[in-house]
Amino acid sequence: MTLLTPSNGIASETMPNQLPICRVEIAGQNMVEADRWLIVGAGGFGREVYSWTSGLLRATQSDFPVGFLDDDPNSLDQFPTLKERWTGRISTYSPRTGDRLLMAVGDPTSKLAVGEALAARGAVFASFVHPTAVIAHDVRIGFGCIICPFAVVCCNVRLGNFVSMNIGSVAGHDSIIGDGCTLSPHSDVAGKVTLNRGVFMGCHTAILPNTQVGEFARIGAGSVVINNVSPGVSMMGVPAKRISWLQHDSDVDQPESMAG
Ligand SMILES: CC(C)(COP(=O)(O)OP(=O)(O)OC[C@H]1O[C@@H](n2cnc3c(N)ncnc32)[C@H](O)[C@@H]1OP(=O)(O)O)[C@@H](O)C(=O)NCCC(=O)NCCS
Repeated sequence: MTLLTPSNGIASETMPNQLPICRVEIAGQNMVEADRWLIVGAGGFGREVYSWTSGLLRATQSDFPVGFLDDDPNSLDQFPTLKERWTGRISTYSPRTGDRLLMAVGDPTSKLAVGEALAARGAVFASFVHPTAVIAHDVRIGFGCIICPFAVVCCNVRLGNFVSMNIGSVAGHDSIIGDGCTLSPHSDVAGKVTLNRGVFMGCHTAILPNTQVGEFARIGAGSVVINNVSPGVSMMGVPAKRISWLQHDSDVDQPESMAG
């Protein structure tokens, strides 16, 4: 597997002109080929991650060691070509040297709970960047991120850990995408936006420039966010309006400056 190996997690200056066929990195570490790749979560997103990584892995590793971790041993039963790849439960996974994990849970709350628990047990997460994704020269990507086909990460963007950027999503210049955020297909973060920890953006959403989105907020599919958003709320529509408070409300402060 072709590697991107910045020692400090910052993409190398030569990246734009020398895009490798497949880029997998672990922020802060030099990358080695994995003995075993484990996709965490065998739901729809997990199977998509499998399809994007498997061709690339087949091309570079002859024994094609890819499995799934999921607490439901029957999660792949309906998919005969994948069924045998269920490897074990997330809750009982014991890290082995040479394992590299790819985070494929979509819901931010579950993703952060699972990812942080696994990392605390010593699991090592890679970040996967599909070869059709466009990544600016000075982007910083944390661990456990999945950057899907045709996603774009513009200049001076910081992605935290466990960020998922689905097909065709965009993180605009100077934006900060916090740990565990999920950008669904074709979601668009404009320039100088901050998505705090655990934000979920539905399909075909847009966040206007200079906007702050609070922790664990959810942006409904097709919505356009024009003002700051409070933590833990669901926003929908054009322009997006608050529709409900979520269970996170009691856990987070509500800054008065946020209008959501
Ligand atoms: C924002 C969201 C997460 C809220 O989910 P929820 O809290 O379960 O809300 P509900 O589905 O119960 O819907 C609540 C109300 O909002 C409406 N609604 C739901 N999604 C909407 C949307 N995107 N735009 C406008 N209205 C919407 C529902 O019709 C419902 O209206 P009602 O109370 O008059 O019946 C969800 O609606 C959504 O948009 N999810 C995005 C899905 C997606 O893009 N997934 C990507 C997978 S790759």
